[in-house]
Amino acid sequence: MYNLLKGKKGIIFGALDQNSIAWKVAERAHEEGAEFVLTNAPIALRMGQLKELAEKTGSEIIPADATSMEDLTNLVEKSMEILGGKLDFVLHSIGMSVNVRKGRAYTDPKYDFTTKGWDVSAVSFHKTMNVLYNKEAMNEWGSIVALTYMAAQRVFPDYNDMADNKAFLESIARSFGYFFGRDHNVRVNTISQSPTPTTAGQGVKGFDGFISYAEKMSPLGNATALECADYTISLFSDLTKKVTMQNLFHDGGFSNVGVSDAVMERFTEE
Ligand SMILES: NC(=O)c1ccc[n+]([C@@H]2O[C@H](COP(=O)([O-])OP(=O)(O)OC[C@H]3O[C@@H](n4cnc5c(N)ncnc54)[C@H](O)[C@@H]3O)[C@@H](O)[C@H]2O)c1
Repeated sequence: MYNLLKGKKGIIFGALDQNSIAWKVAERAHEEGAEFVLTNAPIALRMGQLKELAEKTGSEIIPADATSMEDLTNLVEKSMEILGGKLDFVLHSIGMSVNVRKGRAYTDPKYDFTTKGWDVSAVSFHKTMNVLYNKEAMNEWGSIVALTYMAAQRVFPDYNDMADNKAFLESIARSFGYFFGRDHNVRVNTISQSPTPTTAGQGVKGFDGFISYAEKMSPLGNATALECADYTISLFSDLTKKVTMQNLFHDGGFSNVGVSDAVMERFTEE
């Protein structure tokens, strides 16, 4: 370990169970010397195992529905009290589509579900940054990261309206990143992660086939949740101070491959 986050304080959204990317980020941030507050939606806290992670990392848990400005305001205020000052890093690791959950086709969604989905998956990031920005809760050279997926750029039919939610999320990172950089020297980025076997990931239809396909397409293979956590730590550290307003692919090279030998082999007639 490198003590990359020694003395740094933050908030980590979205750890549900040991498979969650946010769970791995919390474990790695703890190893690197950070102190943080863990948060998730009240319903997820009832179902989840977050207490175990809190004990392991010496953290407190503050429930917050990330679509509620009231909850987010309480979260940020309480976190600063608990941690004894402003924040250096925030991880937004939240995604949910009601249309996917209810099996609606992309071509025939229920628009109430669509609205709920973009509120949870994208606008929640704007709301979080709104509170952080207006309360001046971030230290200078702080870092804010959200997790995304390449369906924002290219079509993956079963990703459904999450593709649109991710495009919205990435745009919010760029737009808010401008103001956060200009006014507070805080950076905002999204990490575009490989398909990863988590609760959210496995909710996507055909996930198993898709994860094997991505593995065969990527010269370095799919990036794991732990590898994503390592990359996130680097973005929270002081080693990446001038990286901002970027969508950063963390996918073993998948996003720049047209076709791989391994995939070609399966389609080549002897
Ligand atoms: N798993 C993948 O294949 C993959 C790939 C690329 C990007 N991502 C993204 O990574 C992030 C984390 O997902 P994960 O794969 O670790 O799955 P996960 O299911 O472990 O995490 C999703 C989290 O979102 C939380 N959440 C849902 N609604 C919420 C609300 N209203 N308020 C607060 N929190 C809420 C859930 O409780 C859960 O903890 C998501 O943004 C996801 O889209 C995942």
